[in-house]
Amino acid sequence: MVKIDLKSLKLKAKKEVEKAQNLKELDLVFRSYFGPEGKIGALTKTLKKLPERKRKTLGKKINEFKEFFQEIVEKKAKEIKEKIEREIEEKEAIDITLPGKKIKAGSLHPLTLVCQKVEEIFQSMGFSIVEGPEIENEWYNFDALNIPKDHPARDLWDTFYIKSDRKPPKKTGKLLLRTHTSPVQIRFMEKNFPPFRIIAPGRVFRHEATDARHEINFYQVEGLMVDKNISVANFKAILQEFLNKFFEKNVKIRLRPSYFPFTEPSFEVDILCINCQGKGCSICSGEGWIELMGAGMVHPNVFKNVGILPSEGWQGFAFGLGLERLAMAKYRINDIRLFYSSDLRFLQQF
Ligand code: FA5
Repeated sequence: MVKIDLKSLKLKAKKEVEKAQNLKELDLVFRSYFGPEGKIGALTKTLKKLPERKRKTLGKKINEFKEFFQEIVEKKAKEIKEKIEREIEEKEAIDITLPGKKIKAGSLHPLTLVCQKVEEIFQSMGFSIVEGPEIENEWYNFDALNIPKDHPARDLWDTFYIKSDRKPPKKTGKLLLRTHTSPVQIRFMEKNFPPFRIIAPGRVFRHEATDARHEINFYQVEGLMVDKNISVANFKAILQEFLNKFFEKNVKIRLRPSYFPFTEPSFEVDILCINCQGKGCSICSGEGWIELMGAGMVHPNVFKNVGILPSEGWQGFAFGLGLERLAMAKYRINDIRLFYSSDLRFLQQF
């Protein structure tokens, strides 16, 4: 005869339910009573074999236990769920009194800033901005600029050639990384008839050793003004105006005679070092002056190569300004390599 001690069964079940740490453990306790192999399940199966009176008594006790068990399990399940919710809330809690996390804002590269300023000033003087390709051919980079093959000036502008299995076209020659922005003069003059005034900023490349003042990849701004009666005096005046605006003060310049195959006469333009006023410092390599650009009056052969006739009175000046040198003078930077080192301590100052 099956007997059930309801009081001690309830006590035992209560202890086991209380012990459950999570819903899985609670489920295991539930199954140990009401699962197919559970204590109560087994007991229920015996019911139908019992005589009616005993069946009723036992059935009543089982029902009472069921009700009791259901109650304590539901209570425990609620407690566990509330505990889980509390833990999630604590984890996700936002302390609105904490100071916010600062988002690091990027800034424009100093060369971008300088280029924008140069463009702005020249635009204010009526110059348009044009562009040309970084990958050029020998014709535009050299020949059209009056630098034929075997001319020693090609050594000054040694560059990187693009390998190709095909024989290069006779007229345009091999592909190369442009060594200066001067080819843009040719490309522009082929398609436009004077008068015009343009600047062409862009990246250039040279196969040479790097040091504090030389990079193998740097930026130039080409300038070109063609009209009738344009002289060196116009060049000097425009340059002086540009530099005064750029440095926001009167800047002293000097023109040194120089040689470029595509200008005649040619000059090198220096400014008095902004940092030491000519005494000599690390920014100007002790020279007192900083070389900014090459310049000169456009050579008649260059005009002829683009179909502009000097005999019709067209003449003009051109210049090629080193953007890094300009930035170095403005911000007193003593090593050109800093521009390309991606060092945040440097870049964050702009
Ligand atoms: C030229 O590149 C000529 N195309 C300039 C020119 C244009 C002359 C139009 C006449 C008419 P040059 O090689 O000197 O010239 O370079 C011009 C400027 O570029 C230099 O004054 C200097 O400021 C800058 N520069 C030259 N080489 C480097 C280098 N390796 N790294 C950084 N800047 C350089």
